[in-house]
Amino acid sequence: MRLDQFLSARTMYSRRELRQMISSGSVTVDGAVMKKSDFPVKPEENRVCLMGEHVPGDLYLYVLLNKPKGYVCSADEPGQHSVLELIPPALLRKNLRPVGRLDKDSTGMLLLTDDGQTAHQIISVRSHAAKFYRIVLARPWEDSYAAQIASGMVLRDGTQCMPAQAALVPGTQREALILLREGKYHQVRRMFAAMGNHVEELERVAIGGLVLPPDLPLGGCQVLLHKDVQKMLKYEADFASLLQTG
Ligand code: URA
Repeated sequence: MRLDQFLSARTMYSRRELRQMISSGSVTVDGAVMKKSDFPVKPEENRVCLMGEHVPGDLYLYVLLNKPKGYVCSADEPGQHSVLELIPPALLRKNLRPVGRLDKDSTGMLLLTDDGQTAHQIISVRSHAAKFYRIVLARPWEDSYAAQIASGMVLRDGTQCMPAQAALVPGTQREALILLREGKYHQVRRMFAAMGNHVEELERVAIGGLVLPPDLPLGGCQVLLHKDVQKMLKYEADFASLLQTG
């Protein structure tokens, strides 16, 4: 595969832009500057860097972002900052999209990929992929919450939720861990609003068996392997352990 083809399929730049970047010395192959756009590249063997950033050779890209507050998951909301602004340019492929949504004021684990099939599996209700959220409430936790959530809540607008799991974080009064197997609009916030409380902070801490790495800072991202992404679908983090570790 030609170097400009390789980069065009894996970045947001056009072939014309890439040819200019290549001829101006912005691209290295295995550590050496390569100025020939038609240089033959083997995606599984060569290490290609664009402006010093490694461009992974895999056909699909999976990026795990620790989303900070203030960013929206859509790419085109006027006047809003998109999570795509947090992805380093060398990783910004044309079809890279967030898998599911986190609200503007929510933080934590957000997967972005250009692999539409895997994205669909993770958000599909039929796959039952577990999403774990840590929340901070405005008012103290009430004992009745866990049972209401476990029995399948009805939101204020009449929306029926699937049975879910929730528990107070030991040693706290207002922090809780919630496990959902679906993703309705603003679901966690609306569940607690329906019970007369208010969610002040919401962080997604795990999807399936993949837990947000504690050393990934807010706004930071890392490239995941396909097998790590499969952990989201095939395994499930342990609720009791997540409740303890925070
Ligand atoms: N539930 C919410 O209310 N907000 C999120 O961002 C995720 C789940």
